[in-house]
Amino acid sequence: MIKTRITDKFGIKYPIISAPMGPFYTTKLTVAVSEAGGLGVLSHVTLRGKNPVKDFKEQLDYVIEHTDKPFGLNIRTARIQTDHKVLLRKIPQWRKENPKLREQLIYGVTSAGGPRIAGKMWKEKAPDMYHFHVGPALWLVDKIVESGCDGIVATGTEGGGHQSYEGITTLVLVQQVAQKYPEKLLVACGGFSSPEGVAAGLAMGADAIAMGTRFIASIQSEFHQNYKDLIPPATARDTMLTTGGFGPIRLLKNKYCLKHGKVMAKEDKISQERVYEMAEYLEDLHRYEIVYTEGDVDNGAIPVGQTCGLIDAIIDVDDIISGFTKKAEELLKKICSNIS
Ligand SMILES: Cc1cc2nc3c(=O)[nH]c(=O)nc-3n(C[C@H](O)[C@H](O)[C@H](O)COP(=O)(O)O)c2cc1C
Repeated sequence: MIKTRITDKFGIKYPIISAPMGPFYTTKLTVAVSEAGGLGVLSHVTLRGKNPVKDFKEQLDYVIEHTDKPFGLNIRTARIQTDHKVLLRKIPQWRKENPKLREQLIYGVTSAGGPRIAGKMWKEKAPDMYHFHVGPALWLVDKIVESGCDGIVATGTEGGGHQSYEGITTLVLVQQVAQKYPEKLLVACGGFSSPEGVAAGLAMGADAIAMGTRFIASIQSEFHQNYKDLIPPATARDTMLTTGGFGPIRLLKNKYCLKHGKVMAKEDKISQERVYEMAEYLEDLHRYEIVYTEGDVDNGAIPVGQTCGLIDAIIDVDDIISGFTKKAEELLKKICSNIS
């Protein structure tokens, strides 16, 4: 058994976390991951036609109805993510009203914006919930630490979905954070989808490993089958960074992505945001909706990490959680046994 500060503090069996993947639902995936002994994480879903507050509450209710295990959630605190403040406020309130939710909802990870508003609200109103923030570069991790977060999700550029302009790899970033902030809880994320990756992440000093793409291609995830089916045949060269709603985003190179083109410069994105029309935002969102509802994987946006090159089958969540951890243990023991 591998024990880490996170398995101890979170009360989970294996040091594996499912990464949030909004705007898509990861509700059933959260249940499956937590039931398998990892930590499932609900995504910040922003598909249209739903009341975001009611929808989030329904997801929370679903999870606590279907598992008694701990789990977490993600809130994207970007300025254009206009529902984030109300959700940040509601979460402690819902936890207070429902003891089962308070017991199980132990992890809140913020991303895509700043950690401060969440940090302040949650420290005061939900001090027993661990607050982590996603950091893509050391200077940004410095700010996360200053804000008082309990931990960091160090996410490198090879990961799927939204990325920063920093372009730092997970390999470099995780070591930097582990060396500079050994007292902070650390999740390594971006580019992990194998037992070897889990072993490497732990060896670099992470307390847990978070995976996104690997969990999309799992039997239990609620991603459209057309989306899942694209991952096993994809190679590590089949993704690219283009421009998404919050900045760079790593997508599979499909018809939509190639037409959308290479990622635009930070300065251009900032000026674009100043005149960003609601219609453009909705057009962006539409690209995800058609993937979710119709499985249109040509005209829709397909966030996937470079790690798709390591994935060759759609497998059971249990094989990812317990299977990868056990194999990682063997690998680490083998390395130790080679030390004289
Ligand atoms: C489909 C998809 C959607 C994502 N949406 C979010 C999100 O809403 N919030 C967030 O913090 N990260 C999001 N991410 C990033 C993941 O949380 C994680 O950093 C990434 O998947 C790690 O890389 P990997 O895919 O190589 O495991 C998304 C990633 C994917 C693949």
